[in-house]
Amino acid sequence: MRIFPAPPDARRPVDVCVGIQWGDEGKGRVVDLLAREYGVIARFGGGDNAGHSIEVGATKLALHVVPSGVLVDGTKLLIGAGTVASLRGLANELDMLEKLGVDTSRIAIASRAHVVFPYHATLDRLAEKARGGAAIGTTGRGIGPAYVDRAARNGITFGDLAKPEAVADKVRQALIARAPLFAGADDVPREEDVVGETLALAKRIVPHVVDGVAWLQAAIARGERILAEGAQGTMLDVTFGTYPYVTSSHTVAGGACTGLGIGPTAVGRVLGVAKAYCTRVGGGPFPSELLDETGERLRERGREFGVTTGRPRRCGWYDAVAARYAAQLNGLDGLFITKLDVLAGFERVGIVTGYRRADGSPAGIEAVGEPDLRVEIEELPGWADDIRGVRKIVDLPHAARTLLDRIAALTGVPVLAASVGPERSALAL
Ligand code: GDP
Ligand code: IMO
Ligand code: MG
Repeated sequence: MRIFPAPPDARRPVDVCVGIQWGDEGKGRVVDLLAREYGVIARFGGGDNAGHSIEVGATKLALHVVPSGVLVDGTKLLIGAGTVASLRGLANELDMLEKLGVDTSRIAIASRAHVVFPYHATLDRLAEKARGGAAIGTTGRGIGPAYVDRAARNGITFGDLAKPEAVADKVRQALIARAPLFAGADDVPREEDVVGETLALAKRIVPHVVDGVAWLQAAIARGERILAEGAQGTMLDVTFGTYPYVTSSHTVAGGACTGLGIGPTAVGRVLGVAKAYCTRVGGGPFPSELLDETGERLRERGREFGVTTGRPRRCGWYDAVAARYAAQLNGLDGLFITKLDVLAGFERVGIVTGYRRADGSPAGIEAVGEPDLRVEIEELPGWADDIRGVRKIVDLPHAARTLLDRIAALTGVPVLAASVGPERSALAL
């Protein structure tokens, strides 16, 4: 599938695909489409807070840590060092794929990736409870506490799993250090249970553990191209997102370098994925949110319910201010717009073109989250036709093409493709 028009640069073997909104942009389906052009698909961050859906014919998958190229035969898949993954979650995902007949020996996990333990999920829930009305609305998967442990140098890596005594020791230390935090928890972890379960699951996982840096360098030396798959979205980046309502990892394209162990000079092209509108799940500011029946209609038509938690997603118009910011942060070369089909039947379709304060003065991205932020909306005509069968952008209704043109112009990045349904082939180029 030639989505990038430019030929690949052999000296820059890694392309990066990231979400540019608040997650759930359709990265899974886009990576699945692109995967045929690459030998390796490598996830560079996040954990099973992510839910990446793929539909190929009657096969529908929700992937949480395994890269979204898994349904393309022959690709090799790396869960990179920048990720955090739960052993049970990963084992379940491998089982699910094996039941579908997928060869899971293609899946490798970097030894420097960190293990998410069930006690991380407990800590995640306790921290959310303590935040009360200011809760982040995390996925409850223990992602934040696992990254905290990594930064605090208390974490346990996938590489550690091969050394059972080291695991037992490290779990003991970790639980001693965290004992005060479990005060009030119903499910205080017991050392022998954690060690027992970890060692049992480790048997299943250890055969997949590799030195991620050497593994990627070997692929590059064989002349393979790498697609770095992002999780979450730019606006959830721990540094540049709507902090503190963010995830705990680097979701921007730069995260591909730190999360895979490659230099910036290895990166060729960067593709941004965005919905033709916008969604967010969990707490935190969302300037283009529609709290009226239009938002409700977007949620219903777009089936906007979380893949990981089933929570209803908040819905709003495409936010070109946030998208321009994302274009800068990621150095985008192109945009892939998803879910264009969802907008069919809306009389008018909006795009947020600017922010202002209540007193009318212009505001920028730094004002997101401030109570007096107002949005300027450009309204475009909608279209009635069902576009799910359209395969060429030129064959789209005039109003749909106008929307794509406005998205490209206002974001400052060309639109390379648009999807018009969840299935792999529902693509307009
Ligand atoms: P990701 O986390 O970025 O991979 O996105 P998710 O899988 O969480 O959410 C995207 C949802 O939109 C999934 O249910 C997809 O099946 C669905 N989807 C993706 N592209 C399209 C599209 O073009 N049209 C429609 N109607 N659904 C789509
Ligand atoms: P994919 O890869 C949408 C959100 C959560 C919450 C915040 C912090 O499917 O796009 P966390 O559990 O990471 O500590 O939660 O981030 N969040 C996502 N929202 N898609 C995701 O992943 C998300 N991963 C985390 O809802 O607001
Ligand atoms: Mg998702």
